[in-house]
Amino acid sequence: MNKSKFSIESETVHADHPINDPFGSHVMPIYQTSTFQFNSVEDGRKFFAHEEGGATHSYSRLGNPTVDRLETILAQLEGVGLPDNEDVSALAFSSGMAAISTTLIAIAKGKAIIAQPALYGCTGQFLKEEAPDLGIQTHFLDLNNLDALDKTLRENPEVRVIYAETIANPTMEVANISKIADLAEAHDVIFIVDNTFGTPYHIRPLEHGADVVVHSATKYLNGHGTLIGGAVVGRNTLLEEFGLATYRKNLGGVMSPFEAWLLLNGLKTFNLRMERHSENTMKVAEYLEQHDAVTNVFYPGLNSHPDYELASAIFEGGYGGVLSFELKGGFESGVQLMESVELCTLAVSLGTADTLIQHPASMTHSVMDEELRLQAGITDGLVRLAVGIEQIDDIIADLRQALAKTEPVMA
Ligand SMILES: Cc1ncc(COP(=O)(O)O)c(C=O)c1O
Repeated sequence: MNKSKFSIESETVHADHPINDPFGSHVMPIYQTSTFQFNSVEDGRKFFAHEEGGATHSYSRLGNPTVDRLETILAQLEGVGLPDNEDVSALAFSSGMAAISTTLIAIAKGKAIIAQPALYGCTGQFLKEEAPDLGIQTHFLDLNNLDALDKTLRENPEVRVIYAETIANPTMEVANISKIADLAEAHDVIFIVDNTFGTPYHIRPLEHGADVVVHSATKYLNGHGTLIGGAVVGRNTLLEEFGLATYRKNLGGVMSPFEAWLLLNGLKTFNLRMERHSENTMKVAEYLEQHDAVTNVFYPGLNSHPDYELASAIFEGGYGGVLSFELKGGFESGVQLMESVELCTLAVSLGTADTLIQHPASMTHSVMDEELRLQAGITDGLVRLAVGIEQIDDIIADLRQALAKTEPVMA
């Protein structure tokens, strides 16, 4: 990671400036090529022998200049607060799931993982269904229960990884990253944090002692809903120790140059977007909390949230852009709300400029066994809102008019 004399805010504004572009391009070009020409046999030989002075690239699955540029800025974003001697690098992947599965396979193969029960759906499914066939067992545990975590670590020496999400769906629980990191260090296990919801704008887990950060770059890093992408960030020595780049090369989940370029473009406004996302989300959370049609609002920025104090201690500049809430009217009200919004977009995902709304019980989780769904905290009236950067009065007015239709008596 190149330490800069400028702030990270300014670095991200310049995220897409090319380094040493032969034509002086202002914006990083998309190196849309599968392979690269060598100037000579010697040039190619040096590349493959990892010797200095030869070709810098050979084939885009092994590395691509547009993707390299993105990786530099991602490493800076997550590693900015670390001392100079802690060299951090990033690897971009074709999706968040490629980043997560490749990392877990590389680090935890033949070993065990301790993970929080409330995980992003596909991560949970991977750990429960595919990972055991790859020799990876998972203990699901509330990681903020530090005594239980310590006990499980003591009793299971085969554990190699603790896996957490900074903010977990749907109740927006916040991981106590520095405390979990202390235990991980004491037991010599690798602590991996999915920082998709937290984002490096609000929290940089490496600064709190985590070893590796993974991202769905599809979300806030891109910010415009135009791509699927992922990233892994960690200290060079650790990524090298587990051969992450080799796993990515051979499992093949690399990011394409065009996606990297879209991400570079999106990152220029990362700080502005995040500021607005979290400002708007706070206001929406406060609005919903006093609404008669709403029984519960889950947002760590509200002092009614069980993790408010923890979040306030570890987050900077707000609490992120996602909240969930429960409707008094249950399932029917959820469906009605989805049918009634006019500004909010009825869609899954998060981190787009526009506000996305979805009702898990009738949409994403409609085929799930009801008992399991309720166990996962996904009640009939639960709604998830990924608040966008529209004018706040418009978002609230849209929710007001839609909520009024959910139950006429509550209008
Ligand atoms: C917290 C979290 N992690 C990982 C992923 C997977 O990312 P992708 O869809 O980019 O593969 C998602 C997707 O929604 C997510 O919300």
